[in-house]
Amino acid sequence: MAKGKPSTVFFCNECGYESSKWMGQCPACKAWNTLVEEPVGRTSQSGRSGASRINAPEPTSVTEVSLESYCRYNTGMCELDRVLGGGIVPGSLVLVGGDPGIGKSTLLLQVCRNLASDGRKVMYISGEESLSQIKMRAMRIGDFSDNLLLLCATNLTDIEEVVRKHRPEVVIIDSIQTMYSDNVSSAPGSVSQVREATNLLLGIAKSETITVFIVGHVTKEGTVAGPRVLEHMVDTVLYFEGDRYNSYRIVRAAKNRFGSTNEIGVFEMGSQGLTEVTNPSEYMLSGRPKDSTGSCVVCAMEGTRPMLVEVQALVCRSGFGIPRRQATGIDYNRVNLLMAVLEKRMGLKMGECDAYINIAGGMKMNEPATDLGVCASIVSSFTGKVIPEDIVMFGEVGLSGEVRSVSYSNIRAAEAVKLGFKRIMLPATNAASVADIRGAGIIAVESLSDVIREL
Ligand code: TYD
Ligand code: MG
Repeated sequence: MAKGKPSTVFFCNECGYESSKWMGQCPACKAWNTLVEEPVGRTSQSGRSGASRINAPEPTSVTEVSLESYCRYNTGMCELDRVLGGGIVPGSLVLVGGDPGIGKSTLLLQVCRNLASDGRKVMYISGEESLSQIKMRAMRIGDFSDNLLLLCATNLTDIEEVVRKHRPEVVIIDSIQTMYSDNVSSAPGSVSQVREATNLLLGIAKSETITVFIVGHVTKEGTVAGPRVLEHMVDTVLYFEGDRYNSYRIVRAAKNRFGSTNEIGVFEMGSQGLTEVTNPSEYMLSGRPKDSTGSCVVCAMEGTRPMLVEVQALVCRSGFGIPRRQATGIDYNRVNLLMAVLEKRMGLKMGECDAYINIAGGMKMNEPATDLGVCASIVSSFTGKVIPEDIVMFGEVGLSGEVRSVSYSNIRAAEAVKLGFKRIMLPATNAASVADIRGAGIIAVESLSDVIREL
């Protein structure tokens, strides 16, 4: 090795940032203690530069490119199809990330089952579990067809050979952190291995038009490279989220070359694998307390889908000099801002009160349309007045205490009516667009003082 050229480099396990020296914090993603040392064992691509080559690639005019009409096919789960942008695109590379134990293997095995029973050839390659372990999981899920092939392997050269020989339509790699290629000398799970493995899989996917689902564990400890390292290489990135203590799981697209990234899919983990939750609002509102202060139902949009969730607030006198504020499922700073608006504009003296805000069910809501409901529940808890349980509200609250318009008001109102709510509180500027909503009374509000008067 030439003098001064290091034989190892440091990679960030979170984002893949490369550095010649170790640092405590990654300058790119600001994560602490994620840089690990790895050897650079790549052969350089020599012979590329210099005199003109015979087989240099030729550019094509955009008008001459023929459009490959990719016909998508369904996974057999509408919730997942929606997140994928309307089904699986042949030859695409999909990364499914999530915490260990959240249900990634279960989800993909169920997809395999559905595809195989549709007559498609599917291969599930596991580097984590033995064949009998996969079989045990499969038995919980249901009956499987012969079209599903299982393989336990971690060496990518073997995997490539098997895949090219059997030519399945869909391949699942569970998980990318267990796979290794002989071309790279570092250990499986390291940044360079994970990248190399994905590159090889990308090659297979594109050359044979095989859809590859890659499972990637998200690790807080940073012992293996996280899926963020690969986000730019794959076509679609799905994150499988959920609360360990809750049975529902959400699939969210973080990147999608073939569809929108706003959509979510909701599932529930049961004893027989994952079931789709086609009406999440009903699910989120189950178990709502009756006649309780500080509780209010809001309508937020998840992509193109409206979702009703309960906002809970608890405001009580602080035992200490500095009041505590806590927000779960909603932006902490937004809660502070809304409390400041309530204090200044409405004269509610909450400066000496602790406040705890929670979105019931463990959902995360970042939409400004939840502001109105958050304010109402804070006021309700502070004053001790119960908000009637047949009201749904949505609207953004501005710094002067005005209630501002939000998008999709008619879709939100329709969802509230569908779930049997009798009154809908919304910004006055949105009132015209819900004029044709039948079955519920419309309460149009212009400012927070209107809200307090109405309640
Ligand atoms: P798994 O798919 O192995 O998670 P991952 O691949 O993301 O690490 O899911 C494991 C969890 O799911 C485990 O805690 C058991 C639970 N589970 C059920 O509750 N019901 C089921 O039918 C199955 C198959 C798993
Ligand atoms: Mg797994």
